[in-house]
Amino acid sequence: MGVNPFIDAEAPPPPKSAYKLTLKNTGQVIEVDPENLPDEEGAKGSLLALLLAAGIEVDHVCGGVVACSTCHVYVPQGLDSAPEAIEEEEDQLDFAPALRDDSRLACQCVPDGSVDVEVEIPDWNRNEVSEEPH
Ligand code: FES
Repeated sequence: MGVNPFIDAEAPPPPKSAYKLTLKNTGQVIEVDPENLPDEEGAKGSLLALLLAAGIEVDHVCGGVVACSTCHVYVPQGLDSAPEAIEEEEDQLDFAPALRDDSRLACQCVPDGSVDVEVEIPDWNRNEVSEEPH
């Protein structure tokens, strides 16, 4: 897991409770176990780490350290269960196409487990999430 040396903010706390993370694009459901969080790129318990561990490829060019916007996802459900984006994330999101109110950087968005969450990978990444070859 990488660290951005230019950011002082502490990583968001990992989830405290088990919850279901649904990938809206495919309907795939990931059971998130706070006792068994994957050791992938992005903050511990982040959407990026959870998606990667489930075999779902999401672009993450900077390695999950808030230095790009390629891990941009939408969080149409359960967004309030994650701490708000820090300023550095907001700055990177400004570069992401097709921003919405529920846009987040997947490597920084860490739900607390209080509710189930739905995540959607934007269109330009759809090839990455399709389970069928094109
Ligand atoms: S992977 Fe670069 S900001 Fe998330």
